[in-house]
Amino acid sequence: MGMNRNKSPDTGGVIAQVVLMFLFSSTDNTALRMAVDKILQERLKMYPGSARINLSSSTLTVCGLRYNRSTVSPRITGGVEIWGSGEWPWQASLMRNNIHRCGATLISNTWLVSAAHCFKESSNPRLWTVSFGTYLTPSLLVRPVKTIIVHEKYRYPAHEYDIAVLQLAKGVDFTSAVHRVCLPDASEMIPYNIDAVITGWGAMSDDGETPNVLQEATVKLIDSNTCNRKEVYNGAITPGMICAGYLEGGVDSCQGDSGGPLVTPDTRNMWYLVGIVSWGDECAKPNKPGVYTRVTYFRDWITKYTGL
Ligand code: ARG
Repeated sequence: MGMNRNKSPDTGGVIAQVVLMFLFSSTDNTALRMAVDKILQERLKMYPGSARINLSSSTLTVCGLRYNRSTVSPRITGGVEIWGSGEWPWQASLMRNNIHRCGATLISNTWLVSAAHCFKESSNPRLWTVSFGTYLTPSLLVRPVKTIIVHEKYRYPAHEYDIAVLQLAKGVDFTSAVHRVCLPDASEMIPYNIDAVITGWGAMSDDGETPNVLQEATVKLIDSNTCNRKEVYNGAITPGMICAGYLEGGVDSCQGDSGGPLVTPDTRNMWYLVGIVSWGDECAKPNKPGVYTRVTYFRDWITKYTGL
């Protein structure tokens, strides 16, 4: 469990960002958490200014942290086992009839975002389950789905508005291996040419096989003017989309990665969801990079349906 605190005591002063992490060994940690909250609230009263903490459990936990061995000292954890998985703890698999169909990204302990086109055959929540963990089988955790909300303007086979949110029937307890990503603000300007990471269990090549182990690849964000060039996507990239990949080809998301995350780290190494795997002309071809739903563009839509 962690907490993120921004404090700016006076204008022109210092902004201190404090992340407090508490590792509770028991799963029933409510009493302990309340005790910690109380002490923190008491202590915060001593400080003037805007310091605040929000006590609801989902905001109490920081987003976008990767608790793997390379970022968390094993000395603190007392062992490596619990950090062994959870390289990309917000990645989920959307299963229909227990078969992996799409990726999805955890944005709170009950909500995920995915692509609208994943539900073109059925958006009946009873047919879908969400699984977490690095492996499809055995999965770490499986949850039934309660609600699926597909963007009201999405019309297959058009690629616009390719976004959906889904709510789990029962929330997950955040752990090192299952954890939410951060969402950027709607006003965030996403730079291009920077590295981003895509993850998923999609095909390893066009028409290729589905791996059991989660795959990751580094791609570059491509500006929309370049992506709209005649030899690239010839004007098909709308403001709700963002391209990522390489014009020379070779690295890309592919069938089965849809709905999954395109993420970038900020300077604190917290990971933000920039895109949702949406479409492309086959996979990894030159001049045909992956096209992703632009999360900042749909940020207010996400808030409207999830309250996040
Ligand atoms: N539409 C595909 C899916 O359903 C994802 C396509 C991504 N394609 C690409 N070349 N990046 O899984």
